[in-house]
Amino acid sequence: MLGRWRSSAGWVAVAVAVVCAATLVGPCSAGDPFAYFDFDVSYITASPLGVPQQVIAISKQFPGPVMNVTTNWNVVVNVLNSLDEPLLLTWDGIQHRKNCWQDGVLGTNCPIPQGWNWTYQFQVKDQIGSFFYFPSLGLQRAAGGFGGITVNNREVIAVPFGNPDGDITLFTGDWYIKSHKDLRKALDEGKDLGMPDGVLMNGKGPYRYNTTLVPDGIDYETINVEPGKTYRFRVHNVGISTSLNFRIQNHNLLLAETEGTYTVQQNYTNLDIHVGQSYSFLITMDQNASSDYYIVASARFVNESLWTRVTGVAILHYSNSKGKAAGPLPDPPNDFYDKTFSMNQARSIRTNVSAGAARPNPQGSFRYGSINVTQVYVLRNMPPVIINGKRRTVLSGISYSPPATPLRLADEFDKQGVYTLDFPTRPLDRPPRLGTSVINGTYRGFMEIIFQNNDTTVQTYHMDGYAFFVVGMDYGEWTENSRGTYNKWDGVSRCTTQVFPGAWTAVLVSLDSVGFWNVRVENLDTWYLGQEVYVRVVNPEDNSNKTELPMPDNVLYCGLLKDKQKQQTPHGSQGSSSFTTYVGAMLLTCMMIFASIVIFP
Ligand SMILES: *[C@@H]1O[C@H](CO)[C@@H](O)[C@H](O)[C@H]1NC(C)=O
Ligand SMILES: *[C@@H]1O[C@H](CO)[C@@H](O)[C@H](O)[C@H]1NC(C)=O
Ligand SMILES: *[C@@H]1O[C@H](CO)[C@@H](O)[C@H](O)[C@H]1NC(C)=O
Ligand SMILES: *[C@@H]1O[C@H](CO)[C@@H](O)[C@H](O)[C@H]1NC(C)=O
Ligand SMILES: *[C@@H]1O[C@H](CO)[C@@H](O)[C@H](O)[C@H]1NC(C)=O
Ligand SMILES: *[C@@H]1O[C@H](CO)[C@@H](O)[C@H](O)[C@H]1NC(C)=O
Ligand SMILES: *[C@@H]1O[C@H](CO)[C@@H](O)[C@H](O)[C@H]1NC(C)=O
Ligand SMILES: *[C@@H]1O[C@H](CO)[C@@H](O)[C@H](O)[C@H]1NC(C)=O
Ligand SMILES: *[C@@H]1O[C@H](CO)[C@@H](O)[C@H](O)[C@H]1NC(C)=O
Ligand SMILES: *[C@@H]1O[C@H](CO)[C@@H](O)[C@H](O)[C@H]1NC(C)=O
Ligand SMILES: *[C@@H]1O[C@H](CO)[C@@H](O)[C@H](O)[C@H]1NC(C)=O
Repeated sequence: MLGRWRSSAGWVAVAVAVVCAATLVGPCSAGDPFAYFDFDVSYITASPLGVPQQVIAISKQFPGPVMNVTTNWNVVVNVLNSLDEPLLLTWDGIQHRKNCWQDGVLGTNCPIPQGWNWTYQFQVKDQIGSFFYFPSLGLQRAAGGFGGITVNNREVIAVPFGNPDGDITLFTGDWYIKSHKDLRKALDEGKDLGMPDGVLMNGKGPYRYNTTLVPDGIDYETINVEPGKTYRFRVHNVGISTSLNFRIQNHNLLLAETEGTYTVQQNYTNLDIHVGQSYSFLITMDQNASSDYYIVASARFVNESLWTRVTGVAILHYSNSKGKAAGPLPDPPNDFYDKTFSMNQARSIRTNVSAGAARPNPQGSFRYGSINVTQVYVLRNMPPVIINGKRRTVLSGISYSPPATPLRLADEFDKQGVYTLDFPTRPLDRPPRLGTSVINGTYRGFMEIIFQNNDTTVQTYHMDGYAFFVVGMDYGEWTENSRGTYNKWDGVSRCTTQVFPGAWTAVLVSLDSVGFWNVRVENLDTWYLGQEVYVRVVNPEDNSNKTELPMPDNVLYCGLLKDKQKQQTPHGSQGSSSFTTYVGAMLLTCMMIFASIVIFP
């Protein structure tokens, strides 16, 4: 099963080999099942908006496959970099507890060189929910390379709704016909990316809802459903920088989960989904089948008469449908002059505190509202600035400059001077500068982070390795008094939050996992220009592998440590078949034993 690379459409081998596999795979937890994936990351040609372009596919699929796993499973992903540039995949929302070695960002991992493969191994420990992976370097996500991660509940844990009749993943996001390299060049030259060329739904362009606006010959996405049934839609905004309003004509969206938290279930006719965010909706096919229905994701907070092309349209098709969807798209919220609509909608998303999650204890049993905050950071976004003649973005005046040596490796090998541990707790009154300044997080501390957005567009912020409680957001400048407005009871715990322009969002996070954890803006242009930081969490009392897993055997070296790296025969001439055959044979044996014990006792 773990055999040689396959170029056929992404296959997913889920081999559940309980005891034996643990002997093959070190840092994963024995006893929990293993899921194996082979990802060949390469360019393919696709024409989502009618114009052929290079997109990044996973094993020839665009979007990539959904990794459908269950809480506590060990995930092994062998990633082959068939691009013409370095690659890392990151697993947004996966917590990698004690194991930032697998996070797939430049602060924790050396990039996988072109033609090489690297195997990620991690456990989806104590979490559930809807997440996605994507390539984390150099704007590559603008070309694709993303796919879903669905973490199901273990069977012993109750889910706060009936078993849906189907599970549908929908990737939506703004899209450019230009390649990610051209977009990068534009940013390097100090330009804006400008208006996107469209919005894709599962890698496809819009249905031709209007013959003037949408050219002929574009392939669109169709979601096939049965009347009367209820489906779980997992919707991810995998786009570059545009907030989207999501809606389905004539259908209610019953919000049920976001990024690992079961929400209070409420109906929405539409919901704003910002870049990097994920939501699950339960949608009942309760309309008559006189026609198909539009599924829409349209650009938000822009002049819609200028941005009409930035609209994704897919089709919801009942099996007994009598005709095509027709007429105008369902209306977006009419709130051009009302800044509060979207913020109030965001505030209405709350945790169902009595629901269980990954573990049997209710989600509300962690009383975040009564824990004393030990560290406070105000991270301030501003419009881009010029530093050393280059257009850059900053957080609290610092534009992150990634060192050649990953921060985590620098610590492991005691290389001084790679980074400084002096990130300011508040923005300082000093000129913006480049730096590799890291937040000194206190292990087991409780950190309050306030994102203050002084720019004129919505930005979303994400923290790797953790979910944070979103406790408040409001317009204006955050002050100590703003704490009086915090939701200390059922704020939602998630990994990506929006920060409206001229507004702040406050989050609380319990720093209980050792490692270097990336805090970044998810808007790709802002991120590319330098807006990110890492939080370093070390346990001063422990180096026994209890609070952090050891460095993996296959770690890649670069920067100051590049001499430690053994060359890898670029793929193709790779003569490892005897090894893979051995692994395959081992696995097969294990599976047979497992099957004979567990499945056919
Ligand atoms: C995902 O896995 C779960 C549990 O193993 C299974 O019930 C479900 O059908 C799978 N979903 C998809 C879309 O394959
Ligand atoms: C590369 O893939 C081969 C199997 O195709 C595997 O044996 C090897 O361990 C992988 N290398 C790394 C560094 O992950
Ligand atoms: C909250 O979760 C409980 C327990 O699973 C469930 O019975 C209830 O319907 C949920 N309530 C809402 C409003 O989502
Ligand atoms: C199509 O869009 C154009 C431009 O916005 C608009 O003038 C026209 O009324 C639309 N056509 C239909 C059939 O809605
Ligand atoms: C949501 O809307 C559906 C109709 O589409 C309705 O049956 C259901 O009761 C509503 N649920 C809630 C929690 O409002
Ligand atoms: C189906 O719904 C459409 C639009 O709501 C309505 O015009 C039509 O009369 C309905 N048809 C039936 C058979 O109920
Ligand atoms: C949107 O753009 C159109 C066309 O340029 C312009 O006429 C209109 O005033 C703009 N609307 C707003 C609200 O700015
Ligand atoms: C939080 O701080 C207050 C005042 O400093 C103190 O009285 C209280 O015991 C602390 N609570 C916890 C849970 O540590
Ligand atoms: C980082 O924080 C720890 C406490 O968590 C403290 O002991 C240490 O001195 C700090 N390091 C720096 C460089 O500020
Ligand atoms: C940004 O900050 C300046 C100075 O404090 C203030 O005048 C301006 O209104 C702010 N703009 C936004 C969008 O927050
Ligand atoms: C930690 O794990 C590494 C690698 O497995 C091992 O070499 C080392 O001895 C372990 N350290 C302790 C203190 O157990």
